[in-house]
Amino acid sequence: MASNNHYKKSHSHSSSSSTAYFYIFISIITLTTLFLLFSHHITSHSTTPILIQSIKPVNQYSPKHDDENEPASLACDYSQGKWFYDPTVRSTRYDETCKEIYKGWNCVAGNRSGAMEIVKWRWQPNHCALPQFDPISFLESHRDVSIGFVGDSLNRNMFVSLFCSLRRVAGEVKKWRPAGADRGFTFLKYNFTIAYHRTNLLARYGRWSANAKGGELESLGYKEGYRVDVDIPEGTWAEAPSFHNILIFNTGHWWWAPSKFDPVNSPMLFHENGQPLIPPLSPEIGLDVVLRHMISYVEEKARPGTLLFFRTQSPRHFEGGDWDQGGSCARLQPLSPHEVEEFFSVKNNGTNVETRLVNEHLYEAIKGTAFQLLDITRMSEFRADAHPSSAGGKKHDDCMHWCLPGITDTWNDLFVAHLSSIKVR
Ligand SMILES: *[C@@H]1O[C@H](CO)[C@@H](O)[C@H](O)[C@H]1NC(C)=O
Ligand SMILES: *[C@@H]1O[C@H](CO)[C@@H](O)[C@H](O)[C@H]1NC(C)=O
Ligand SMILES: *[C@@H]1O[C@H](CO)[C@@H](O)[C@H](O)[C@H]1NC(C)=O
Repeated sequence: MASNNHYKKSHSHSSSSSTAYFYIFISIITLTTLFLLFSHHITSHSTTPILIQSIKPVNQYSPKHDDENEPASLACDYSQGKWFYDPTVRSTRYDETCKEIYKGWNCVAGNRSGAMEIVKWRWQPNHCALPQFDPISFLESHRDVSIGFVGDSLNRNMFVSLFCSLRRVAGEVKKWRPAGADRGFTFLKYNFTIAYHRTNLLARYGRWSANAKGGELESLGYKEGYRVDVDIPEGTWAEAPSFHNILIFNTGHWWWAPSKFDPVNSPMLFHENGQPLIPPLSPEIGLDVVLRHMISYVEEKARPGTLLFFRTQSPRHFEGGDWDQGGSCARLQPLSPHEVEEFFSVKNNGTNVETRLVNEHLYEAIKGTAFQLLDITRMSEFRADAHPSSAGGKKHDDCMHWCLPGITDTWNDLFVAHLSSIKVR
């Protein structure tokens, strides 16, 4: 296909796409960041914390996706399967009228071609079924529970999907900002809370400029950049681990975003214990160090019984160039397995190569920790048809976020399937 060849020829920098859209979100979201609304009786810890009887992750850690070698005792691997077109799909759990959908992701209202088709594809795991979760029984079984989404705008996309899925059946909802969240809601009838904590790198970062008096980085020639404190969580979520009962983290896009963290003009400059790390670390190594620190921070801060998830990387689908080079995603159907490999194999080093690279870092980082992986990467890699693209008349195509309703609804089905597999008392 012409578009594929075009894709293969593009040797763009891998992932600056994030930046354009993130800049939009920065302006929208930061308006209200750091405004802590601490309602004491709600933040006070439950006297009956969730006790985990046994944790049986449905989707065991298996980065190689090696079906044949899986021991028979493992439960189904939801991350491996196929998308099936099902024209009979009934109405979704919510539609384009859900107010929490960010305008740029509202593909039906924004007239993205094929927007109504997106939800007619059903994920069929290889050896089991992934049912749509039922909002009412979900709320019933999560009374007095609080779930925090911590991460970049892709985690917000998933958070909005969950909110909209529950909104229709839930009765009265209170909008507030639990534990410093960017936004959050309590479904009053169930005392069930969900919140989104915005953070790009998990670690705290901010602009850095050379000090006239000099210093270690100055003597190496650095003039401008971003100071990243590998051992300090960003304030937007620092309280989240001791507040929520269930947490779902992500980070990734910003680590491969050279138009913000330009290796020459505005590099990431990692600090630990308040001191610059010398010699300076590359972003990839910095990511490993940050993940290690943030994961142990969460493990320490979380109350006993808190469920911890790390979501794997959400793939982008720019074809014919990156976001700022006219790249687009006009497809109306999922990719074939062969096309998926062309897009994402690390060997091909294409425009969206960061997807699997980020995951390699995640897999290493969560080994032996209390975190479970929520592996949405493979299923999402197929869905080049499910991004907003030019919906609503954008300057650049958005081939990174997802239309809502759309596939983050399936991510939440997966999330709920994981939760259901964990016995909670
Ligand atoms: C991958 O492609 C990028 C951009 O074209 C290039 O800078 C980089 O060196 C390539 N990496 C490898 C491992 O080939
Ligand atoms: C979508 O199409 C409708 C009907 O043609 C039109 O009224 C509306 O303005 C369009 N919306 C956008 C965001 O382009
Ligand atoms: C509501 O749920 C929270 C946990 O999310 C809990 O701490 C609090 O005690 C509950 N409130 C009531 C009135 O049960």
